[in-house]
Amino acid sequence: MDRNLALEFVRVTEAAAIAAAEWIGRGEAKKADGAAVNEMRSRFNQMDFRGTVVIGEGSKDEAPELYNGEQVGKGNGPEMDLAVDPLEATDSVAFGRYNAISVIVAGSRNSMLNAPDTYMEKIAVGKEAASVIDLDAPVADNIKKTAKALGKDTREITVVVLDRPRHEELINQIRAANARVRLITDGDVAAAISACFNDNEIDMLMGIGGSTEGVLAATAISIMGGELLGRFKPPNEKHATKVSEFGLDTKTIYRAGDLAKGRQLTFTATGVIDGPLLGGVAFHKNCIVTHSMVLRGISGTLRYIEAHHDIFGIKK
Ligand code: FBP
Repeated sequence: MDRNLALEFVRVTEAAAIAAAEWIGRGEAKKADGAAVNEMRSRFNQMDFRGTVVIGEGSKDEAPELYNGEQVGKGNGPEMDLAVDPLEATDSVAFGRYNAISVIVAGSRNSMLNAPDTYMEKIAVGKEAASVIDLDAPVADNIKKTAKALGKDTREITVVVLDRPRHEELINQIRAANARVRLITDGDVAAAISACFNDNEIDMLMGIGGSTEGVLAATAISIMGGELLGRFKPPNEKHATKVSEFGLDTKTIYRAGDLAKGRQLTFTATGVIDGPLLGGVAFHKNCIVTHSMVLRGISGTLRYIEAHHDIFGIKK
């Protein structure tokens, strides 16, 4: 992928994150999401590329903007597939909680699994433990093997889990295996990717979360050499039908490299609210500060970009 284009995507996530952050704590989930979606779309349409949204805000009827199949960009330049979540963890913004980001994954045509928006059972770890996890193994085995791979005791392992009633048994099993549980209200994309870094307390992500979030996280994890294993877990018949309509099933275990294929991939994210991966948008008297990351598969480069917007007051 064009190097400059990869950096252009940061401008898009920065703008979407700032737009969403204006809604922090105002109790308006739809308005926060809408602000991020509108900003992302308008920024895409200022770029010289031909993008197709393959994972967006659902079908055209459900979401008027950034829907699956939508064409974005000025219509000239390179062609690429996009998976986007203008605001991942909408409720975290609406209720002023923790851990929200704006995300764009870009790749060559057909590089991302065309997945329906349903649920997925997931387990994610960083590079050291990439080859030892198994979605069918008991929870305690996965924790024990991950601990061994990381050179830790199981008591030193921290597993992030979405705080949902469906995870009650999983949480009991993690605790019975001596590991710590960190519960998050939302945002399993950032949490899963955080398992790839050794400078935070997160070692693993386990549990059921969104399937499109699985593809987004898998892209970053795959570039960083970690692993995300996922299996579709539709909660009802309607969702099960969607899975089969996409030609997929509920038995196959997908690896990160099946969800996001090849090396022509980029993962770009900007923090909206502080989380384990990125700091949130900070509104200061004289400028707005954003924290972003850009991962390029082709070079294996991770860039952190702290931007101070309009610090010189040019726009005023
Ligand atoms: P949204 O941005 O769509 O609100 O998703 C937030 C999130 O917490 C994801 O990170 C996670 O994968 C999914 O919701 C879990 O779904 P649910 O809230 O239905 O359990």
